[in-house]
Amino acid sequence: MINNQHIPIMENEILSFIDGKRNLSILDCTFGGGGHSKRFLENGHFVTAIDKDDSSLIIANELKKNYSNIIFYKSNFKNLDSLDLTIKKFNFILLDLGYSSNQLEDSKIGLSFKIDSNLNMNYLGGDLNAHRIINYYDKEELQRIFNVYGEINQAEKLANFIVNQRSQKQINTNFEFVELLRKSGVNFRSKKIHFATQAFQALRIESNSELENLMTFLRKVHDYLEINAYLAIISFHSLEDRIVKNYFRDNKIKKNKNFQNNKNWGYEILTKKPLIATKLELLKNSRARSAKLRVGRFIN
Ligand SMILES: C[S@@+](CC[C@H](N)C(=O)[O-])C[C@H]1O[C@@H](n2cnc3c(N)ncnc32)[C@H](O)[C@@H]1O
Repeated sequence: MINNQHIPIMENEILSFIDGKRNLSILDCTFGGGGHSKRFLENGHFVTAIDKDDSSLIIANELKKNYSNIIFYKSNFKNLDSLDLTIKKFNFILLDLGYSSNQLEDSKIGLSFKIDSNLNMNYLGGDLNAHRIINYYDKEELQRIFNVYGEINQAEKLANFIVNQRSQKQINTNFEFVELLRKSGVNFRSKKIHFATQAFQALRIESNSELENLMTFLRKVHDYLEINAYLAIISFHSLEDRIVKNYFRDNKIKKNKNFQNNKNWGYEILTKKPLIATKLELLKNSRARSAKLRVGRFIN
């Protein structure tokens, strides 16, 4: 049994788009702890679930004991088109990006700067990890990821400091890396967040190719949407949200009923501004703080 600690985010907002409907085919591309999928199943829908995580597979198997209408694929969602899907088109597709609370607490993955773990941060089982990045990326590559993915202004200073420190001794653990950040003299952006947050975000995005996964998925997803289907995406940082926002903008339906992309399909944007969690939800789940939900209705 897995100690499932993940609390699903904005589940009422997600369900509100399909309120009163039954028997929809739903694709949950980020099954995680199965919170959203469970709600879909309780509401009488059929769920096709994807996740790359081993514990998600175990949780999905548990859920199957009570619900027959779920199929689980252990895969990266960017490879949607290589899955032998039983159902080919969906009425609702959900992406709830990033990592689950179960993964955050897993010291083998090492996503948290509060848990001393070996430097890893790869939660999708890929080959790249934070240890390789910190100890073997060249200075320019380090600068790029801290600048672009961490939005750290003094990325060059940080990259120089890492290269200098690792020439004396490899950096092996999360706490060693946090200590390095503390000594680096870099002025991290905000006083509201822990000073290691941005650097950890950068390493996590790079280790898991988070942005590439999302962009690859978005290039394919229209092939899997029924007419009038909903595509709902929850993102947790501005880089992801920008990609989602631009995707909907570039493929939106215009007033003259043509599509922005000059193709014969597109989206009615249902969230002019992204939805955010209510104060009540934030009281129960602080992880909902940075979540932004964008939803489009597929038209073709
Ligand atoms: C925020 S959690 C989802 C939580 C889930 N909605 C719930 O209610 O329990 C994100 C999940 O997406 C998975 N994930 C992230 N990127 C993925 C990718 N490219 N392919 C497959 N799974 C991915 C992670 O492994 C994690 O389990």
